[in-house]
Amino acid sequence: MALMEGRVEPPVYLGPDELARLYSVEDFESLARERMADAGYRYVAGWAGTGETVRMNREAFGRWVLRPRALVDVSTIDPSTTVLGQPVSLPVLFAPSALHRLAHPDGELATAAASVAADTVMILSTSASATIEEVAAVARDPWFQLYWLTDRELTRDLVQRATAAGFRALCLTVDAPVGGWREGELRYPVPLDATCRAANLPDVVEVETRLTWSSLDWLRSISPLPLVLKGIMTAQDARLAVDHGAAAIVVSNHGGRQLDWAQASLDALPEIVDAVGGQLEILTDGGVRRGTDVLKALALGARAVLIGRPVFWGLATGGAAGLGAMVELIRGELVSAMALTGATTIADVGRQLVSPRF
Ligand SMILES: Cc1cc2nc3c(=O)[nH]c(=O)nc-3n(C[C@H](O)[C@H](O)[C@H](O)COP(=O)(O)O)c2cc1C
Repeated sequence: MALMEGRVEPPVYLGPDELARLYSVEDFESLARERMADAGYRYVAGWAGTGETVRMNREAFGRWVLRPRALVDVSTIDPSTTVLGQPVSLPVLFAPSALHRLAHPDGELATAAASVAADTVMILSTSASATIEEVAAVARDPWFQLYWLTDRELTRDLVQRATAAGFRALCLTVDAPVGGWREGELRYPVPLDATCRAANLPDVVEVETRLTWSSLDWLRSISPLPLVLKGIMTAQDARLAVDHGAAAIVVSNHGGRQLDWAQASLDALPEIVDAVGGQLEILTDGGVRRGTDVLKALALGARAVLIGRPVFWGLATGGAAGLGAMVELIRGELVSAMALTGATTIADVGRQLVSPRF
């Protein structure tokens, strides 16, 4: 993409016919890599330390296989579900991520439009490159992701703006009390400029390093929104999340961008489902690229999954339409895999659909 390189010609985005010739999320990534400014692409790809957790997030899906079923009436397959009571047409949400304008000039507004078209939930990042109010005007029932800042009043202001703008849940990211050792970002600094900056924040902010479980009481006192804790990776913390009134958790290692050598999210999921399944909603993210990945995560007990990097790849390829086309690929593969495993609705998806790969 031309934005960051000071080239004058605007990037040309793919039209419907060209988008229809992309067949997988990987196709979108290859194209995004060619089209985005190098620094922007590298930031999105970014990792902590050796990058092992990024790789493990993908590899974990390869340790499970799906179990086909025969002679089930699959004339109607319905991948719709609910998250925190909100209907979504498929169990795939847009993860909160910074600076969507790195991928497309419309940034988060394109993401919001794609979430409406796909009928799913967008989670807006504290570090978004569009304002809370701009996104609220386009999105339908989005959630707001909060980084709790050392400046309490600024933090309160963000929460109150999101609440006033009609955001439906507050997603507090709890895996980033300090930045990960972002070797990628040390090598390739984030390419910020006047067209692409964190639109809801002053130029310099710091996250609060002193948060503990009791800090959540303050957050709950200033906002009536259901609380989602993003970045829970152990049964112990999942139980504490229940004890502290979280409505949902996201089993997540931040896409391998925080603690290098953290376990793959999918590997952490079963112990967490066993510990707290039924007491709150359990979402997960990290390395979800295919409809079959979605199905495996749901079979292991997730209510829905989030996609992070793929959102950028969709935007870079075709803006809102590109991201929309990408979601439809994931939906198509999910529906096919549901039919071939004999699951006609999401309620049919359970542990019986998967077994460990030998
Ligand atoms: C470029 C980028 C920026 C991100 N920014 C945030 C953020 O602002 N807040 C947050 O909670 N997570 C952030 N994340 C993590 C995502 O929400 C999500 O956990 C992760 O991307 C999922 O893994 P995946 O990219 O393999 O799908 C970011 C991820 C990426 C790739």
